[in-house]
Amino acid sequence: MDDTDPRALRRTLGQFATGVTVITAMDPQDGTVVGMTANSFSSVSLDPPLILWSIVREAKSLPVFMRATHFAVNVLSKEQLDQSNRFARPGADKFEDIEWSSGLGGAPVLPGTAAVFECARHVEHDGGDHLIMIGRVERFARYDREGLVFARGRYGVTAEHPLVDEQATAATPPGERHPYDDFLIPLLHRAYSTLFEAFSTHLDREGITGPEMRVLAYLSLRSGADREQISRGSYLGSQTTDEAIDRLAGQGLVAPGGDGGLRLTEAGASRFKTLIEHAERFEIEGLTEVDAVDVATLKRLLRRLTS
Ligand SMILES: Cc1cc2nc3c(=O)[nH]c(=O)nc-3n(C[C@H](O)[C@H](O)[C@H](O)COP(=O)(O)O)c2cc1C
Repeated sequence: MDDTDPRALRRTLGQFATGVTVITAMDPQDGTVVGMTANSFSSVSLDPPLILWSIVREAKSLPVFMRATHFAVNVLSKEQLDQSNRFARPGADKFEDIEWSSGLGGAPVLPGTAAVFECARHVEHDGGDHLIMIGRVERFARYDREGLVFARGRYGVTAEHPLVDEQATAATPPGERHPYDDFLIPLLHRAYSTLFEAFSTHLDREGITGPEMRVLAYLSLRSGADREQISRGSYLGSQTTDEAIDRLAGQGLVAPGGDGGLRLTEAGASRFKTLIEHAERFEIEGLTEVDAVDVATLKRLLRRLTS
């Protein structure tokens, strides 16, 4: 154990996951508004309603916080990474080009947060190189958004612990579950089939089949590939690959590219671009009931599994 090194202490404190807030105030002297990212926020008391946070003594905005009558604790939602970064920069005009409204004591209230606590300054305490600010909550609001998380020096999102889910699934009578339900490969296969069925309406509109799209995708990356390479690279059997290539060639989308290989024609490249636009639209419009951050998390995991 190292009990002296501040860097080791900071790293060790990072094992404790927190939310992320932007704490704001208005200078009553000239109306200047300040704000800073802070994860030292904590609840203190329900009656009276008190919360605390600590501010580093060298913060540029400290003098304003010490003159202000109020401060607002904006609890950032998981969509507000950019706000966290913006308000973690020292000084400057952090409110330029962003929306905010004036709360109690003029303290800026940000839109899109998970919650806000508007506080009157209650008392300050010495906290070493920080000053501990205690506020009395005068107004608060809770929104139906998930909070941004900070742990181990990195941003995160909350997710229900997967084991909680598994225990709930295990509690359902065995007869109601498919024997493969708990395994990754069948789950991936079913998810693929379900998603692909929904996406195939887009392919139908372009008169292209799934295997044909895979061939176009492979050739867009590896022009000059031969039939065997295409078959392996696009996970298609050789007969399915041959049929797809022959149909694409019949439509003038694929042509011989020298050395026995194949290439996309101009029309093929243009059709593939349209298909990618469909794929992008599908992910935005077709997956509305799945959270965008969850989709990004799943993609990251799948990339790890396939790398
Ligand atoms: C996730 C995160 C949490 C932070 N928490 C605090 C905090 O609790 N207290 C603090 O004084 N600074 C904290 N900081 C650093 C301040 O946001 C940073 O020093 C900021 O530049 C201060 O702004 P100012 O100098 O304009 O007042 C944090 C930064 C990040 C990225």
